[in-house]
Amino acid sequence: MRENETKPAVAGFAADKAAELEAIRALLRERRGLDFRVCRRSMVERRVLGRAALARASDLGQYLARLRRDESEIEALIGHLTIKVSRFCRDAYVFAKLAELVLPERARCRRGAALSLWSAGCGWGEEAYSLALLLRRAGLAGSVLGTDVHEGALAVARAGLYRPAALAELPAEQVAEYFALQAGRHGPSYLLEPAVRELVRFQAHDLTAAGPPGRDFDLVLCRNVLIYFDLPTQQRVESLLAASLAPGGFLCLGEAEWLGEPPLSAFAVADRQARLFRKAS
Ligand SMILES: C[S@@+](CC[C@H](N)C(=O)[O-])C[C@H]1O[C@@H](n2cnc3c(N)ncnc32)[C@H](O)[C@@H]1O
Repeated sequence: MRENETKPAVAGFAADKAAELEAIRALLRERRGLDFRVCRRSMVERRVLGRAALARASDLGQYLARLRRDESEIEALIGHLTIKVSRFCRDAYVFAKLAELVLPERARCRRGAALSLWSAGCGWGEEAYSLALLLRRAGLAGSVLGTDVHEGALAVARAGLYRPAALAELPAEQVAEYFALQAGRHGPSYLLEPAVRELVRFQAHDLTAAGPPGRDFDLVLCRNVLIYFDLPTQQRVESLLAASLAPGGFLCLGEAEWLGEPPLSAFAVADRQARLFRKAS
């Protein structure tokens, strides 16, 4: 599956510059502590070449020199490498299952105690806030942790301000109830109400470099993140996600993703279409 991929636009832009690509990856590790060796190589190459073309570099050597002297270009490249395509309640079927099956079951297990939900790889926050909306609409106590490797994305997430396209899958009555329309120079945007924003805490976290940011979660969403990692990294991250859940807790992956074996053996499939797995109690 590909999301919003950009093809290099500069004619004659050589794609086989392995040494420069490795030097760019090393620079991102040194300057930002981000290791893109865990991502699928073809994806990294395509995205670096795409960004270099947008930055009007004539070749990868020139682009590397630019990155060495220009922090803002490093930030732009990280933004380009960490693909953020998302929407509120992305995939209505999945969110219906979370509302009908997962939250009621976990609320019963917790006997009224607050639920703890995690959106891993939350990008600009749409998914984390969608979980907060589910809690709010179900009248359940709980909180949501939204994490992402890209700190710049989390700053945007904390603001809770979205363009209309981000709300395209949300029923109109929920948009009217929870968002305030704001006119801006670049068109309208929607501000999520503080009472929903306050249910969510955002924190920088690299799924490939650290342990889980918490334990005993009732529900973890890690959708459309694993697809960018190589196989050994996918397996490590899946084990981390499994370890972060409470017994009987739920894991939800993206529509093009499925668990490897293990940790699939530690789960029962709760809903195949929704990529929803229940951890053994
Ligand atoms: C396509 S978005 C998915 C957003 C949301 N989960 C959804 O499905 O709509 C992928 C997100 O994963 C994040 N990401 C990539 N590598 C990561 C890592 N190593 N640790 C945590 N997040 C990562 C990216 O920054 C990006 O925000």
